[in-house]
Amino acid sequence: MFARSAARKLAARQFSTSAARNINVTVLGAGGGIGQPLSLLLKLDPHVTKLNLYDIRGAPGVAADVSHIDTASEVEGFEADKLEEALEGAEVIVVPAGVPRKPGMSRDDLFSTNASVIRDLATAAAKVAPKAHLCIITNPVNSMVPIASRVYDRAGVYDPKRIFGVSTLDVVRASRFLAGIVGGDPADTPVTVIGGHSGETIVPLFSQTPAAKRITGEAYKKLVHRVQFGGDEVVQAKAGAGSATLSMAYAGAKFTNALLRGIAGEKGVITPSYVRSPLYENEGIEFFASNVELGPNGAEKIYPLGQLTAEEEEYLKACKDGLKKNIQKGFAFLD
Ligand SMILES: NC(=O)c1ccc[n+]([C@@H]2O[C@H](COP(=O)([O-])OP(=O)(O)OC[C@H]3O[C@@H](n4cnc5c(N)ncnc54)[C@H](O)[C@@H]3O)[C@@H](O)[C@H]2O)c1
Repeated sequence: MFARSAARKLAARQFSTSAARNINVTVLGAGGGIGQPLSLLLKLDPHVTKLNLYDIRGAPGVAADVSHIDTASEVEGFEADKLEEALEGAEVIVVPAGVPRKPGMSRDDLFSTNASVIRDLATAAAKVAPKAHLCIITNPVNSMVPIASRVYDRAGVYDPKRIFGVSTLDVVRASRFLAGIVGGDPADTPVTVIGGHSGETIVPLFSQTPAAKRITGEAYKKLVHRVQFGGDEVVQAKAGAGSATLSMAYAGAKFTNALLRGIAGEKGVITPSYVRSPLYENEGIEFFASNVELGPNGAEKIYPLGQLTAEEEEYLKACKDGLKKNIQKGFAFLD
């Protein structure tokens, strides 16, 4: 039996806690491969008071199911025509809505379908819950964040600190893959991952993790490649049934928990996220993932990258070229 104490223990292991505060979270795309396990994990997060689940299909069923879990939060499901109701009172909105990849597809191949989804959902969010923190999981993240940002800007409610691209899965993979080589608990091998969230725009800074320093040459290149293209392993293994859903739900819940702790006033909550950033703005790259300190106002502090090795500088160069194009493509969609 999955007793309340077991649920608490799981929640405590899964999520760090801090001072309680009422927070409403809305998931847009809650019926999908990511949306369902993400909703489950958010139901276990003690920071969440009310969980609104929305999808164009299936959200009331997911909500009814998740609502029976014996944690304190209330859960409500919303039909396709109830988007605005689902957003009312939201302080955090998490978005895994849209189509995933099939074998042979890049994240950019999803652009035309998902750009409209993000435009429409951001338009509703900007209208109903303009101060909510918006966390975008939908791919290609590199282009979806610029689209949502411009939608908010045009609605006159843009606060760059409150729109996030969720790149946490890259951080999770980097830490897990590194631990797989050097041994030990991935919790002891955290890795900062910068840039964006697709292929060569993903740049893990292994030189900043002491345990990774002994990985050099071909082994280092293979490790970086695995972090950059780890998503392909899942897409291929699922053979047409989609991309990462369970590990992504975990990563999405982990990022949301960090944001909720920051909103609750916990200090020193720092994690990489793809946000509006001054770091390479003068090169035409307005959005960039680096370590960000999360607080009540969202991305309160953006950290510089620190020292990079010559190899990392090379990866960064390729990253910036790709990222710039992805950002321009996002903006161009709305022109
Ligand atoms: N950021 C990351 O690291 C990461 C990792 C994996 C997947 N993804 C992306 O997340 C997205 C979702 O993946 P999935 O595997 O859950 O896909 P899925 O097809 O299983 O689920 C997507 C859900 O979105 C819903 N949806 C579509 N349009 C909608 C709209 N306008 N409003 C509300 N809901 C809508 C669908 O009904 C479906 O339930 C994809 O774009 C995928 O590429 C991101």
